[in-house]
Amino acid sequence: MEFFLDTAEVEEVREIAAWGILDGVTTNPSLIKKSGRDFKQVVSEIAELCDGPISAEVTSLDTDGMVREGLELKETLPPNVIIKVPCTPEGLAATKILSDQGIGVNVTLIFNASQAIMAAKAGAMYVSPFIGRLDDTGADGMELIAEIMRIWDNYPTIETKVLAASIRHPMHMLQAMQMGAHTATMPTKIFRQLMKHPLTDSGISQFLSDWAEVEAAGNA
Ligand code: G3P
Repeated sequence: MEFFLDTAEVEEVREIAAWGILDGVTTNPSLIKKSGRDFKQVVSEIAELCDGPISAEVTSLDTDGMVREGLELKETLPPNVIIKVPCTPEGLAATKILSDQGIGVNVTLIFNASQAIMAAKAGAMYVSPFIGRLDDTGADGMELIAEIMRIWDNYPTIETKVLAASIRHPMHMLQAMQMGAHTATMPTKIFRQLMKHPLTDSGISQFLSDWAEVEAAGNA
């Protein structure tokens, strides 16, 4: 199982990478906009902090443009950067061309199982179904993850990893892992929520106050 951070904030990557469990980072144009910083500079800094796959997204809509952007990003950014393309026919063609050259591709904006299958056929390293955005429409995002994993079970030679994206709360991640999704990408807030439990905090306080008494009694 892999945990990716979904952010373009370098300080957030530094924080979560320090936990020792960060496997990669996903960015997208909206996250770059939110950061207010230069795209390539941000991705380069992130790639220095985390040696797993760092997704950098292309913005062309035609195959040639996506391939050109992807090759340019691969040439100018650190080697752990992989290329994110949208799940369109043009994106599929770009995925095939880039992956045939050994370049990792994350196919994003996947909203049904057929899109996931097609992206896997094109050689994607990752397919990214968006759970939260499906939930937003009244559909069941988790059911899409379940459906994709059932299909993957039928074809054990598929190497494409299923990356659960648009995760909005801790249960999304837990359910995706129960279903066997290979990877979950989550905002920093969710990483923090996953590690927070009031009984852990109160337990630590109790242990520390008892230990202070042990020390005061000269028994430490
Ligand atoms: O990884 C995809 C993610 O950035 C989208 O999340 O919350 O904007 O749907 P959200």
